[in-house]
Amino acid sequence: MRTLIIIKPWAVSRGLVGEILSRFERRGIRLAGLKVVKVDRERAEKLYAVHKGKEFYESLIKHITSSPVVVGVLDIGIDDPEGAIRLVRKIIGATDPAKAEMGTIRGDFGLRIDRNVIHASDSTKSAKYEIPIFFDEDELVEY
Ligand code: CMP
Repeated sequence: MRTLIIIKPWAVSRGLVGEILSRFERRGIRLAGLKVVKVDRERAEKLYAVHKGKEFYESLIKHITSSPVVVGVLDIGIDDPEGAIRLVRKIIGATDPAKAEMGTIRGDFGLRIDRNVIHASDSTKSAKYEIPIFFDEDELVEY
């Protein structure tokens, strides 16, 4: 089962990429694809289409396009797809870093909800929508 993660600008500029990726690796989750991307407005709008119209939408787009991000596709080797999504979201923690448990990525490295260091798809449906925004199928490896 594959899902998308985005290590956001604030985490990349603070040098937290290795630390964040190791959280998934240590759990036995494999990387199927990984790249550094400067997200343009078009891609950002596609990624965050569900948030269009919300009061934080413009600042969300501004932040994700402000400096490079690291996008990755995680391959979670368990049979239950929704369980796999829940596992990744458990590792990253609650959206608001103030509410995220210590020991989660957002709980350990986040401060502000609008710069919460990492994004992950919140359902199998959103993973299927989000992965092709950043990766062609031939850029993803199965092993
Ligand atoms: P992310 O997982 O990237 O998905 C959408 C993002 O919107 C979310 O992380 C937060 O960074 C941001 N977000 C969600 N809710 C709020 C909010 N109430 N105020 C500001 N930013 C928000």
